[in-house]
Amino acid sequence: MALKRVAITLLALCGLAAVGDALRCNCTNCEKTGYECETDGACMASTYYTQGKEQHVRICINRDNLVPPGQPFYCLSAEGLLNTHCCYVDYCNSVDLKVPVPTKEVNWLGSSWGPVELVAVIAGPVFLLCVLLMVGVFLFQYHQRAYSHRQRLEVEDPSCDHLYLAKDKTLQDLIYDMSTSGSGSGLPLFVQRTVARTIVLQEIIGKGRFGEVWRGKWRGGDVAVKIFSSREERSWFREAEIYQTIMLRHENILGFIAADNKDNGTWTQLWLVSDYHEHGSLFDYLNHYSVTIEGMIKLALSAASGLAHLHMEILGTQGKPGIAHRDLKSKNILVKKNGMCAIADLGLAVRHESITDTIDIAPNQRVGTKRYMAPEVLDETINMKHFDSFKCADIYALGLVYWEIARRCNAGGIHEEYQLPYFDLVPSDPSIEEMRKVVCDQRLRPNVPNWWQSYESLRVMGKIMRECWYANGAARLTALRIKKTLSQLSVEEDVKM
Ligand SMILES: *[C@@H]1O[C@H](CO)[C@@H](O)[C@H](O)[C@H]1NC(C)=O
Repeated sequence: MALKRVAITLLALCGLAAVGDALRCNCTNCEKTGYECETDGACMASTYYTQGKEQHVRICINRDNLVPPGQPFYCLSAEGLLNTHCCYVDYCNSVDLKVPVPTKEVNWLGSSWGPVELVAVIAGPVFLLCVLLMVGVFLFQYHQRAYSHRQRLEVEDPSCDHLYLAKDKTLQDLIYDMSTSGSGSGLPLFVQRTVARTIVLQEIIGKGRFGEVWRGKWRGGDVAVKIFSSREERSWFREAEIYQTIMLRHENILGFIAADNKDNGTWTQLWLVSDYHEHGSLFDYLNHYSVTIEGMIKLALSAASGLAHLHMEILGTQGKPGIAHRDLKSKNILVKKNGMCAIADLGLAVRHESITDTIDIAPNQRVGTKRYMAPEVLDETINMKHFDSFKCADIYALGLVYWEIARRCNAGGIHEEYQLPYFDLVPSDPSIEEMRKVVCDQRLRPNVPNWWQSYESLRVMGKIMRECWYANGAARLTALRIKKTLSQLSVEEDVKM
């Protein structure tokens, strides 16, 4: 009897678990979790050809990424290139799909002759004529340069990547099309792949934690290509995932173009393609140039706008989750031609899922750059269950970046040489212990010189910095508050943004 009761209870529990539980899918790149993953969205299986070999990919797609609803980009196939299938029951993506060979056959009508076929024989040519007519109209418009029409993604049309990749389109056009026609999170996957595979690498422009950064050319325009070593697949995937968060695009966040994993037979090359900014990082920029008061305000305000957008949660189906950067520093901020900042390197970012009030990945202890770690991160008192803690740590780092900028501000003919924060208090490449002693035990902060008080803008910057550096994270300013204060300053100082 007892056994039976236990059995019934177990069964009931399993039933409950099945109802409340997430969808389980096969996952080709999840060695850690036994080639399985869990999601609130869909299972996806995709088959494509690279270098004559069939590749199978099975992954989870989170609900956030199932855009537009009904026909998500992630679930699209491209004829002769990519066969993709999304489904919504456990392990349904275990199927082996074939890449369909491009064919002119109208095989959707079946193979035996019947009334349906007769209709097809009659309707076929009519249909073909319509298609020809449409192509004609399209070509006509193309020649007329009548670009006022913006092609929307026709999901039923398997050749829509040709529309996207029409020969004379620049990346800006492509991405503009995307952000006006849908999610605003980027190009569809197969378009990303096509773009990535037609980039010509030019020169190496940097080495990062995860690999190299190159300048590349695509249709005459410059792009930046971050190439991850194959051991860093998780970092590549994570960064691509974060960049494709719905509604992330913002003028002060590095513009993401494409992610691609190229298999060259022996190893996988992992690419992340983004906008290219010739000034490079804020760190390089400040090393080379001093800035005017106007320049300083522009840099500071644009960085705050970018961070405010990242942090902000937008509710609704087309909303965006709150995102904390976790590795903000002058080397991870780029300077655009117009003197504004673009926040980059989102590989360590965490997203907040407000419905469940959870963070989308298990945040590991102390990541990021030691020099920029907030006191609560250094002494491990940060409350990692609380998403706002990560935002507060970002603000502390932003304060340090502001200090780096303000030192290079040329007011009344004086400016200081470039230095990293805490340059006078810790050695280069400091250990966590060395940082903790200075920042937590001695409670020291970078020096705010007295002469800054004589210039309104530097006075305001100094005040913001101090309010970013409080030992108590919750007492610090928010990115939005900083943005508002600096906007006001930019109006007073007549800075044109
Ligand atoms: C998918 O996962 C199920 C359950 O773990 C397993 O039985 C099946 O073999 C997997 N399919 C593939 C193609 O890996």
